[in-house]
Amino acid sequence: MTEETSRTWFVTGASSGIGLAVARAAAGRGDNVAALARTTAALDPLVERHGSRVLGQVADVRRPADVEDAVARTLDAFGRIDVVVNNAGYGLFGAVEESTDTQARATFETNVFGVLHVLRATLPVLRAQRSGHVLQGSSYYGRIAEPGVGLLSATKYAVEGLTDALVPELEPLGIKVTLVEPGPTATAFLSNLAVADSIADYDQTVREVQKAIGELPPETFNAPDRVAAAMLSVVDAERPPRRLVTGNFAVKVIREALESQLAELEAWKTTALAVDDVLVAS
Ligand SMILES: NC(=O)c1ccc[n+]([C@@H]2O[C@H](COP(=O)([O-])OP(=O)(O)OC[C@H]3O[C@@H](n4cnc5c(N)ncnc54)[C@H](OP(=O)(O)O)[C@@H]3O)[C@@H](O)[C@H]2O)c1
Repeated sequence: MTEETSRTWFVTGASSGIGLAVARAAAGRGDNVAALARTTAALDPLVERHGSRVLGQVADVRRPADVEDAVARTLDAFGRIDVVVNNAGYGLFGAVEESTDTQARATFETNVFGVLHVLRATLPVLRAQRSGHVLQGSSYYGRIAEPGVGLLSATKYAVEGLTDALVPELEPLGIKVTLVEPGPTATAFLSNLAVADSIADYDQTVREVQKAIGELPPETFNAPDRVAAAMLSVVDAERPPRRLVTGNFAVKVIREALESQLAELEAWKTTALAVDDVLVAS
């Protein structure tokens, strides 16, 4: 990238995993990166390596003021924001009934309201520029759910829903939006997972899924650097997709879910359309 074509990235959750990999890849090719984390210690190696191209900032996405301050400092340093990576998030594992209200609300605070805080703070900048690209941190659990991931999936489905509205809202303003739906990725995500207290009645469902996830072969987990490379290629694309799915596992389970939804829509078509008949008759 030349000076003229280099971009400025605004990356949340840049302390580890996918966020760190994106920040590293973008800075590595000569772009500017505002890297947000809850502590700057994790960002020190990145800043040391890339100097003034990386602006490490402390921000908790649950706090709108933190995010707004980070946007102001990014504009002071780099003058613009081209790519927003709304990546910070964590998981909650447990049956829907097992998850406490506090746990459920806490997950929404980060995974949904954190995303909203970042959008509200950055979109005025992108709208003023009439350009930019927002990468929304979703998951294959934003397209499917299974026992134990109900609340995590609820947060990611929420991000998917608001993003499907965001795309046509921002398209006329010159802003692109892509949902990033990684499959299992080798990050600290599983070790950072909040886990609900168990109820024995869910041993055959939730605990079995938990066991199955624990037994996934290591090769199921994609390298975060590869996921980051896919995200960079989407940002570089002339016509980026609305959804970027990464990894064979995610492609397979999402395809199966879509096929099963289509088959059910077809199987229940007569009942579905009978509602129209009643309307016409009345
Ligand atoms: N790994 C997977 O298998 C997988 C699959 C699909 C989707 N994803 C999604 O990918 C995203 C990144 O996760 P990851 O896999 O890279 O896991 P990770 O290594 O645990 O990274 C999560 C990042 O989010 C940050 N974060 C969490 N809560 C935050 C808050 N309130 N404010 C600011 N930052 C916060 C963490 O910061 P701290 O270091 O301060 O905690 C960390 O930087 C998440 O949205 C996750 O749902 C991951």
